[in-house]
Amino acid sequence: MNDEFYHEPVLVKETIDFLLAKDRKDLNVIVDCTLGGGGYTKKILESSPGCKVIGIDRDVYAIRHCKKAMSEFSDRLILVKDNFSNIKEIVRNSGFEQVSGIMMDLGLSTHQLNAEEGFSYQRDTPLDMRADKEQRLTAKDVLNKFGERELTKILYEYGELKYGKQIAKNIVLSRKNKEFTTTFDIVNMMRELVPPRYLNSDLSKLFQAIRIEVNAELVNLIKILEDSADLLESGARVAVVSYHSLEDRIVKNAFRGSEKLKVLTKKPVEASEEEIAVNTRSRSAKLRVAEKI
Ligand SMILES: C[S@@+](CC[C@H](N)C(=O)[O-])C[C@H]1O[C@@H](n2cnc3c(N)ncnc32)[C@H](O)[C@@H]1O
Repeated sequence: MNDEFYHEPVLVKETIDFLLAKDRKDLNVIVDCTLGGGGYTKKILESSPGCKVIGIDRDVYAIRHCKKAMSEFSDRLILVKDNFSNIKEIVRNSGFEQVSGIMMDLGLSTHQLNAEEGFSYQRDTPLDMRADKEQRLTAKDVLNKFGERELTKILYEYGELKYGKQIAKNIVLSRKNKEFTTTFDIVNMMRELVPPRYLNSDLSKLFQAIRIEVNAELVNLIKILEDSADLLESGARVAVVSYHSLEDRIVKNAFRGSEKLKVLTKKPVEASEEEIAVNTRSRSAKLRVAEKI
């Protein structure tokens, strides 16, 4: 894949406007917890010359890409390859007590979808799906080793698949003949189960479910939302862009339930029609922002 193109970010202006609000002049450091291709980080560094950014990603490709693509900002950009659930240690190890803003743009980057293994059902690649290639658990392990009950739970809860039980049963039956090794092994199994008009949407849900399990996405999100409020300076903001209802619900409840935060977005901010026309991924994006009291 062309190294120049990594990811087209969504809702950038809306998110940055909240983070760098006009009356907040003395920005010290902002944490971009989901660096990806660095779309948000670059905007923050350009718009706020005194501000530093800690850019976190657990995907080594994102770190490598940004190191190269943003070398001009190397004196103000601290790149950290880690899980954002370790945000407290990461901030402390970077030399800060508190921060002037935290943002997350959840989900997958285009690079992960188009150039890394296992994430897309449209390309035949090994069943990997690890954002962090040093982690042990892969999609292949989940599909070949997890029991039927565990798989059913994952498919219902993380994929909201109505026929989760039946799909799980088929996974277990099918792997008795031959273990799953590539994405198309799953696609072929689903082809036999699901009518053609539902195939793509059910495959999206199935891949989402396995990906959430492999990368413990919701567990990490709950943890960082708990820790974020403690790290923010008074008046500083946390902004989260999410792409499906499971994540959005977690963000909404964490903001509403926190005694340390005031919600700034009663309803989530969504992409404009113009943005949706040029970037279809923005269609499902929801931005929620809260401020430290
Ligand atoms: C949608 S992309 C972010 C794109 C980015 N905003 C940009 O402008 O290019 C999400 C990124 O977050 C990273 N990510 C997701 N969960 C993470 C976690 N728990 N810890 C660290 N990085 C994570 C993914 O590896 C991916 O690179």
